[in-house]
Amino acid sequence: SHPETVQLLGKEYPSDSHTNITPTVAEKLNRNLYLQSAHPLGILRSLIESHFTDFAALSGLSPLVTPGKNFDDLGFPLDHPGRALSDSYYINRDLMLRTHTSAHEVEVYARGERRWLLSADVYRRDEIDASHYPVFHQMEGARVFPASAAGVEELEDSNARLSEHLSKAHIVIEDVPHITPSNPAQPTHDPRTSSLVAQNLKLSLNSLMLALFGGRAGASEDPLRVRWIEAYFPFTSPSYEVEVFFHGKWLEILGCGVVQQQTLDRANVPNNVSWAFGLGLERIAMILFSIPDIRLFWSQDPRFLSQFAEGQITTFKPYSKHPPCYKDVSFWVPDGGLHDNDVFDLVRDIVGDVAEDVKLIDSFTHPKTNRTSRCYRINYRSMDRSLSNEEANVYQAGVLSRLQEKFGVEIR
Ligand code: PHE
Repeated sequence: SHPETVQLLGKEYPSDSHTNITPTVAEKLNRNLYLQSAHPLGILRSLIESHFTDFAALSGLSPLVTPGKNFDDLGFPLDHPGRALSDSYYINRDLMLRTHTSAHEVEVYARGERRWLLSADVYRRDEIDASHYPVFHQMEGARVFPASAAGVEELEDSNARLSEHLSKAHIVIEDVPHITPSNPAQPTHDPRTSSLVAQNLKLSLNSLMLALFGGRAGASEDPLRVRWIEAYFPFTSPSYEVEVFFHGKWLEILGCGVVQQQTLDRANVPNNVSWAFGLGLERIAMILFSIPDIRLFWSQDPRFLSQFAEGQITTFKPYSKHPPCYKDVSFWVPDGGLHDNDVFDLVRDIVGDVAEDVKLIDSFTHPKTNRTSRCYRINYRSMDRSLSNEEANVYQAGVLSRLQEKFGVEIR
């Protein structure tokens, strides 16, 4: 039922039973929002890049990667849910859209970079609401130290400088131990070196949080609060997550850790240790610029774009909030089942960014026939203009007929 080839970035790729990339997603591949200097994502990228002096700032790597690069090279198990067709976009079984910037770790280390940042668009199949979009942007950062006496000296020196800088800052850090039985140093690492690397990572990121959020957390006499939490990633150990207290809530900002030695070995840089982090640019930009809906980043409306200027963090002023228009779709799920994300991608394909959110509001299985019925509530609302009920009806009719055509659902 799919065409035999897929056109992406001016090239043609064979499709197969894995192919699930949609036209709406495909058209995002060359937008490069994060490279526009007066776009909130570009402004934030530059701000972080200028904070990390002496780090190479990389960008422009192709979003098309092999599953090997996105998952296997980083130690993801074969049954990891991220690999599923329901969670990631595949061009075919051998090629996918990267789901995170960590997919480029091996090649960047292999190029010889020892302090680097890499920004890119990443793709995940997900729900539709104000904070989820199938395309978003991440920045990966890493720093490598020799696993030798010289490396230990470099770490101690860097840690002393960063501690000194932070000791004078208006910041309160809730820490976790660098290494614990549940968040261990790697067997091939000297625990003392691993601990120093983890400390360097923490100090470097606390300093970044201070640069981004310090003095902005509402009442500026309150100190910035940063919280460290133990985490798990297949490609780091120990691993952590960082949260920042902002406008009365703890917000998850990034994941990070001490890079698994196999990544560095694969990149041909043995006898070195590295930390790495990956942060979501939209997440942070929504907070810093007060952008209420993730779809706005894709807006080409001058009322959005004209509010931002290179190098400046300004508060977005909403120019219009049109009334929502809710419509429900109820259907019997076909025998083979149907994943929520298949429904969401179909809606995005027909409705585009006019779909503000889509929620599963009811699901039940008929006791006699054993068939399952589901009801989704779609909120049609444009960010740029007011939408007539007639237009929403046209979208809704399109969604209904495509659901029947593509998945064989029976509309109720
Ligand atoms: N790639 C991880 C994610 O997308 C974040 C991460 C990057 C974690 C680097 C550890 C080290 O969630």
